[in-house]
Amino acid sequence: MKIEVHHMRSDQENEYLLKAVDAFKRRIIVISPDYEILAANCPFEEASASDLVGKRCYHIFHERSSPCNNCAVEEAITKGVPTLMPKPDKSVDLSRVACYYAYPIFTDDKVEAIVSMDFDLPSVGKLEDKMQKSHSLLRNFILSAVDGVIAADKKGKILIFNEAASDVFGFKESEALNQVNIRDIYPDELELEVMRHLRSEDYGGKGKLRSYKVKVLNKQREEIPIRLNASIVYEGRKEVATIGFFHDMREKLRMQEELEKTQLQLLQAEKMASLGKLAAGVAHQLNNPLGGITLFTKIILEEHSLDATLQEDLHRILRDAERCRDTVKELLEFARQTRHFIKPQDINQAIERTLFLLENQTLFHNIQIEKDLDDKLPLVPADIQQLNHILMNIILNAAQAMEGNGRLNFRTALKANGEHVRIEIADTGPGIPEAIQARIFEPFFTTKEEGQGTGLGLSLVYGMVENHGGHIRAQSAVGKGTTFIIDLPLDTQGNEGDKRG
Ligand SMILES: Nc1ncnc2c1ncn2[C@@H]1O[C@H](COP(=O)(O)OP(=O)(O)OP(=O)(O)O)[C@@H](O)[C@H]1O
Ligand SMILES: [Mg+2]
Repeated sequence: MKIEVHHMRSDQENEYLLKAVDAFKRRIIVISPDYEILAANCPFEEASASDLVGKRCYHIFHERSSPCNNCAVEEAITKGVPTLMPKPDKSVDLSRVACYYAYPIFTDDKVEAIVSMDFDLPSVGKLEDKMQKSHSLLRNFILSAVDGVIAADKKGKILIFNEAASDVFGFKESEALNQVNIRDIYPDELELEVMRHLRSEDYGGKGKLRSYKVKVLNKQREEIPIRLNASIVYEGRKEVATIGFFHDMREKLRMQEELEKTQLQLLQAEKMASLGKLAAGVAHQLNNPLGGITLFTKIILEEHSLDATLQEDLHRILRDAERCRDTVKELLEFARQTRHFIKPQDINQAIERTLFLLENQTLFHNIQIEKDLDDKLPLVPADIQQLNHILMNIILNAAQAMEGNGRLNFRTALKANGEHVRIEIADTGPGIPEAIQARIFEPFFTTKEEGQGTGLGLSLVYGMVENHGGHIRAQSAVGKGTTFIIDLPLDTQGNEGDKRG
């Protein structure tokens, strides 16, 4: 065997070269065209060159009795070019792949032998595999996150839409990815606003938006309040996408509302109770002097012959004193609130009766009456006098508010799984300004001119409804009319209606 060299090396050089080949930590072997190992270096302790020389490479390295398929050595022999091939065995390290490199050695254009070397290459394919794996792990994290996650490219095409987002928006993931644009889920120009905020420094830094409260639209085009954390995704300096993490605020808002409502109700109940006591006390105090005024005025009128103007003045005193007495009587009624005669009552009939009494009054001539009464309404345990009083007061208020012109709607229905009956009385009057809505049930609260109203009507109504274990509230908006909603329980057992008696 003769290896072509470009100049004659000295023995010293040859010796260094051999040492270098042995010091090289890769197996280097020289193989003949019929796969016999002609020479080998000694990179490892375990297999010395003498164990290899004279053996067939396929036998030694692959335990085969014939040459391997896809062998770099074979390629180099037949094609006469350096050849790279992956090793057939599986490597443990996924990031690298083991290869053979085979270089032909020529003598007069003929391949005389092959130098074969093995080494590892970074595995591009396997790296991709690994990336794929970590990618799908990340994807799973995002898809199963409790909060909603949506990402979209610059054109608004949705790239990520997780399960929580599906729950909130009602779109399936595939639907969102293929048919929905990010702009569709924002009402009006809100997407632009969010994008503007994202680019400004003022909402958590440039490219970021923190804890931003916004309303979005679901598949049914209903508004859903969410809290949004969003950021712009950059590749280098280029903007490629936006990603938003959001929390559905409906449950929290609902609970907050409930809490506020309960607090308000408590406050209202407390206020009414103490106002009731106060009113009762004042009424009591007034009752006796009023009796005195009436009595002594009558005595003077009877026992003295006075001239006409004096008599007229005294009659005026009598009339005013009587008005005071009526007010005092109402106040005492409000404070007492006993349930006189509780019997099952037909609410629809009570409405009809009250209307019958009022309809002929001039105030009602230009008021259109509409009725949406549930004819299967069960009887409600109530004191008929108080029930009539409740209806009368509310209807009168409505007619007065509409100044005799408008529409009055009555609606009855069974509510809350049959637990209570609801009466709704709606007018088309001017409505009640929000600022005074909380006060209309207070005794003496009135917006009417002096002498026109005492402001006791609704406070009496309130007391009577509570007395039945029920609840009353007003829904109103200025310019849109007012609706009084009364809920009366079907089962009054266990309520403490007589507590103020
Ligand atoms: N349907 C309604 N539309 C608009 N405002 C109303 C309506 N019902 C009541 N109000 C407002 O509530 C206030 C209190 O009503 P409430 O019946 O207690 O007293 P009043 O009607 O003013 O006096 P009274 O009933 O003693 O004649 C009214 O003055 C009015 O401002
Ligand atoms: Mg009134």
